[in-house]
Amino acid sequence: MTIADLSIARSLLPDFDASPTPYHAVQTVARRLAAAGFTEHADSDPIEDGPKFWCRGGALLAWVIGGDHDARSPLRIIGAHTDSPNLRIKPNPDRTTARFGQLGVEVYGGALLNSWLDRDLGLAGRVALRGQSGPEMATFRDDRAILRVPQLAIHLDGNIRESGLVLNKQRHMVPVWGLDPLPSFRQYLSDQTGAAEADILSWDVMAHDLCPASLGGLNEEFLLASRIDNQLSCFLAARAIEQAATALGSAIPIIALFDHEEVGSVSTTGAASPLVANLVAQIADRFGATPGDVSFSRSTSLVVSADGAHATHPNYPDRHEPDHQIGLNAGPVLKVNANQRYATDAYSAARLRLAAERVGAPLQTFVSRTDLACGSTIGPATAGELGIDVVDVGCPQLAMHSAREMAGSHDPAAMLDLLAEVLTE
Ligand code: CO
Repeated sequence: MTIADLSIARSLLPDFDASPTPYHAVQTVARRLAAAGFTEHADSDPIEDGPKFWCRGGALLAWVIGGDHDARSPLRIIGAHTDSPNLRIKPNPDRTTARFGQLGVEVYGGALLNSWLDRDLGLAGRVALRGQSGPEMATFRDDRAILRVPQLAIHLDGNIRESGLVLNKQRHMVPVWGLDPLPSFRQYLSDQTGAAEADILSWDVMAHDLCPASLGGLNEEFLLASRIDNQLSCFLAARAIEQAATALGSAIPIIALFDHEEVGSVSTTGAASPLVANLVAQIADRFGATPGDVSFSRSTSLVVSADGAHATHPNYPDRHEPDHQIGLNAGPVLKVNANQRYATDAYSAARLRLAAERVGAPLQTFVSRTDLACGSTIGPATAGELGIDVVDVGCPQLAMHSAREMAGSHDPAAMLDLLAEVLTE
């Protein structure tokens, strides 16, 4: 392990801290890309040469066309997701119980509910404001510790010793945010955005843990942060395409950061949307590609679905397949599932393995115990949408879907080498 490895992990810490929601994650990546010379593409623009990015809500696409690219150029696409499980504010959230002011929340995605208890929580998101010619979206973040989901004292929980902690999403996860009397949530948003209360039309607002991202472990072996799944892959994909823009290969590099993976990817900004297919069609049109050219290009293209992988948990080694132990700081993880919960197959796996060999990145291989359900990624949705080979890979981590996750601090550097190699092939 080298110092250079850790510098990548260190550079990621401010990106996590700047990204409490998918909308902020998109802004974080957009700011990076703009600083690296990418220009924003508007829907009305024709596809032109040069490094470009495009944003919509919690989704971002970036691509680079130039050099020797033509109608038959293969595509190299890195896909990842910007969303993470959390608590989201309901449309009519205001309530008062036992003199506490509370905000009604929905649980977004497969959150580990216990991890949201007794944490200092802020609020962030986007608000739709009445504009001259329709809604205008404003993002905000409030890093004061205004929300708290207090756990029931052990003396009042008669069953906890026998049954463990049992949490009901509706009854036990409602945050307090002060003592009665409190302003309405709409009044609060009016203060945050500077808009009149009557001009607050709707919102996508969520809670975030306020503890900053950091390195930990005796020798800083660990990366500790909220939303490692899957902002880590998003931030590495952005760095990889920045590198690709300065060393274009024969393939067209694209990154696609989607929203809504944690709830199934079916949305206008999710991986099951036509966002990437539309971009690919516009690129084909830009080169005057025939159907034969398109078919040839797709047959030689590759999608890397980048998402967190499960490291072997030291307290639960029995939950892992004994012949596929996964270590932190032992390299990116190729993910395989015969039932196509991951989209990897022997051919796409081999292509990734060769890319890893070229850059000297170690590659681990994950398969789940066959008696345990396997998670999924944007991989299968993307394969179905585009008809391009897909391989699933990611940095190993523990505590996936906790409000605070952990990964290795050296794996991001190896993952970045691998992603950049794929994009510049
Ligand atoms: Co994920």
